[in-house]
Amino acid sequence: MKKTLFLAIVSAIVFLGVAFAETGVKKRRPLPFEYGRVVINNYSEGARLAPVVFDHWQHRMNFTCRVCHVDIGFAMKAGATDIRAVDNMSGYYCGTCHNGQKAFSSCELDFGLKSTETCDRCHSLGKKVERKFDFAETTRGLPKERFGNGVDWEKAEAEGKITPSDYIEGVSIKRDELVVQKDFELDAKVEGMPEIIFSHKKHTVWNGCELCHPEIFIGIKRGTTKYSMVDIYEGKFCGACHGSVAFPLLDCQRCHTQKVQ
Ligand code: HEC
Ligand code: HEC
Ligand code: HEC
Ligand code: HEC
Ligand code: HEC
Ligand code: HEC
Repeated sequence: MKKTLFLAIVSAIVFLGVAFAETGVKKRRPLPFEYGRVVINNYSEGARLAPVVFDHWQHRMNFTCRVCHVDIGFAMKAGATDIRAVDNMSGYYCGTCHNGQKAFSSCELDFGLKSTETCDRCHSLGKKVERKFDFAETTRGLPKERFGNGVDWEKAEAEGKITPSDYIEGVSIKRDELVVQKDFELDAKVEGMPEIIFSHKKHTVWNGCELCHPEIFIGIKRGTTKYSMVDIYEGKFCGACHGSVAFPLLDCQRCHTQKVQ
């Protein structure tokens, strides 16, 4: 009880602080189907096409984070990958899969850039596009969570309801089984704060090692990387994923628990 109250108070302070510091306005919380959505618009509008909408929920059902963010090379920041139509057409980026074989085909450049039904499936921002995969229908059978996509992705995989592939023929390199590091506790440096158990094992399933080391955490010796909850709210460290794609920071208790095992 005391713990819950403590968390509620801290949460209110941290939240208001960060939300106002950034914009002066509190952002609307995304709806479950919007969580993990990325809009890509470095070139689309310039070519008189609608900006591209990419949904993580759709893709993480079928692929691990590592496949896209390491093997294919998408940046971990919206808009940061310089994706050109010709790249997609040559089998890079979205075109690794969206080539008319693994998934529906992507860009073309030789018909006056008139958007068609195929183009609209990706160049869809602001358009009424009928999706082949409806969020509610597709995720119906998956275990529920309160926040983010409203789906417990961790459990969905543990129960075998989704089986994301960690390998794409011709793109991924065959690697030895990863030697998984021990799970450990992280200290929150505030008295009364429930300890955090960080599971290397569980994270490695999705992320491999390369998504975190060495860019987000140096990872040579525990405690080398110094950070606080405020850094995390700013999208650094754990916040690089928890806040936009993995379950959001709102879900304090999923990290600040007693033992998880
Ligand atoms: C099918 C490929 C694909 C998969 C699988 C995938 N991502 Fe992404 N991710 C992308 C693309 C594309 C972007 C946008 C990159 C850009 O705009 O330059 C992105 C962006 C992101 C961002 C930045 C979001 C933002 O709002 O700035 C984060 C964080 C992220 N991904 C984490 C993850 C995590 C964690 C997983 C696994 C649970 C994952 N991704 C799985 C393709 C993928
Ligand atoms: C690792 C493979 C892979 C990559 C990379 C990938 N996709 Fe997909 N995507 C898929 C698969 C598989 C589906 C399901 C499509 C199917 O079964 O026809 C899908 C579905 C979609 C859909 C859903 C369409 C609908 O009608 O419901 C959209 C939109 C989409 N992808 C956009 C993108 C964009 C934009 C990119 C690049 C930023 C991208 N994808 C990169 C594999 C991929
Ligand atoms: C699988 C998803 C997908 C589909 C389908 C798709 N595109 Fe794209 N396209 C992208 C992405 C991602 C970008 C990069 C967006 C940006 O940065 O604005 C892009 C960018 C473009 C650009 C601007 C980039 C450049 O290099 O000039 C053009 C033009 C383009 N697409 C044409 C088309 C046309 C025409 C179609 C339909 C035949 C189409 N695309 C279908 C994903 C897709
Ligand atoms: C989701 C992110 C994440 C992934 C994925 C991940 N790690 Fe780590 N790793 C961490 C964090 C956080 C620490 C602690 C860093 C700190 O306190 O400075 C850490 C610490 C370490 C350490 C130091 C451990 C110690 O006890 O001193 C090693 C070694 C390590 N990681 C190796 C790996 C390897 C090998 C993999 C893949 C099998 C991996 N990590 C995957 C986040 C991750
Ligand atoms: C590279 C992206 C990434 C980073 C960085 C990351 N996580 Fe995660 N984490 C994930 C993904 C993906 C999942 C799967 C669940 C989901 O997507 O909602 C997950 C799941 C978890 C879970 C649930 C696992 C369980 O035991 O049920 C906890 C707790 C967690 N992360 C804590 C942390 C902490 C603490 C840090 C920082 C030290 C961190 N994560 C950094 C991507 C990341
Ligand atoms: C993705 C995991 C994760 C989530 C979700 C999360 N935290 Fe944390 N939090 C951490 C980690 C890791 C630390 C330890 C940072 C350190 O001190 O090294 C931490 C530290 C803290 C601290 C100690 C002071 C500080 O700034 O380091 C407070 C207070 C805190 N968190 C409050 C919260 C509240 C309130 C929420 C929910 C609104 C929350 N946290 C959600 C991972 C998380």
